[in-house]
Amino acid sequence: MTDTKIIAVVGATGAQGGGLCEAILKDPEGGFTCRAITRDPGKEKAAVLAARGAEVVAADLDDVESLKKAFTGAYGAYCVTNFWEHFSAEREKQQAKNQATAAAAAGVKHVIWSTLEDTRALMSPDDRRMPMLQEKYRVPHFDAKAEADMHFAHLPTTFLITSFYWDNLYSFGLAPKKGEDGVYSWAFPMADKRLAGIAAEDIGQIAYNIFKAGPAYIGRRVGVASEFLTIEQMGTQLSKALGTGPIQYHAVSADAYRGFGFPGADEMGNMMQVYRDFEKEVTGARDTELTRKIHPGLLTFEQFLAKHKDKIPL
Ligand SMILES: NC(=O)c1ccc[n+]([C@@H]2O[C@H](COP(=O)([O-])OP(=O)(O)OC[C@H]3O[C@@H](n4cnc5c(N)ncnc54)[C@H](OP(=O)(O)O)[C@@H]3O)[C@@H](O)[C@H]2O)c1
Repeated sequence: MTDTKIIAVVGATGAQGGGLCEAILKDPEGGFTCRAITRDPGKEKAAVLAARGAEVVAADLDDVESLKKAFTGAYGAYCVTNFWEHFSAEREKQQAKNQATAAAAAGVKHVIWSTLEDTRALMSPDDRRMPMLQEKYRVPHFDAKAEADMHFAHLPTTFLITSFYWDNLYSFGLAPKKGEDGVYSWAFPMADKRLAGIAAEDIGQIAYNIFKAGPAYIGRRVGVASEFLTIEQMGTQLSKALGTGPIQYHAVSADAYRGFGFPGADEMGNMMQVYRDFEKEVTGARDTELTRKIHPGLLTFEQFLAKHKDKIPL
């Protein structure tokens, strides 16, 4: 085990990092070991990772010194932020910067930074189709990550542009809802445009395969998605997999969606409006063929549904 390379995994108890830990742990001969980073090594998910052979280390994205310690001795670092915990673009940028600073201090040889594109580049600042949020962002959790790219630019980094998780159907409350008439329906401001989607667990396996590929993807932007599907297509597959009967799709306006009132509705409304109005650019930034080349076992939406349908609250 002496010549194995340590991958320090931020978000190890979450979707992306958890998928990466899983990929490392299920490949004990792969030459890598998993250092799972969490704020709370006592939590159940951390204990499960430890029991499976991960080294569990405490660190906080708001505390750069704790990250420096957590990254010391690591060959690789998977860096990710969780916007949805605090909804602050400024804090997300600082948390990304802290990870880049720590990776530089620790001399990490390969960083994967989980990022997204800058949606402000898609429209002029005076474009009124959607509001600016947090003063200067169109989609804060996209734009903040993109701004943070600069902190990783001088490091040996793969910029991993991720996609909408299909897991949002059960983890983000986005499943269709049953009406009083017994018919399922859902509302999105996506018109007939395609959504770039992926199973969250596959992001971790992709990251692992990128680490395993050595220098091949260092310095590159790799946009990953499994399939580009319209909401109608997703509804048809969902209805077939779960036997719900037809799922009605209400293609609401982005303004209506932003007004739904749940926490982050404005953010989600802007995001989906970007998906709708800039379908070509968003899908163009993600390469399904390359994604499948990196990870041949990538789940299609149909396979994702077959595997996870019991979690979807229908
Ligand atoms: N949902 C989607 O469709 C989607 C698509 C593309 C990109 N994203 C992006 O994915 C990111 C979230 O990643 P995820 O889905 O893997 O997260 P997740 O499943 O929600 O879990 C969050 C992870 O972040 C860790 N974390 C949060 N704050 C931390 C802090 N201050 N210090 C250390 N660790 C911290 C948590 O660790 P502990 O609690 O154990 O400390 C946990 O492991 C978001 O920024 C989002 O924009 C989401």
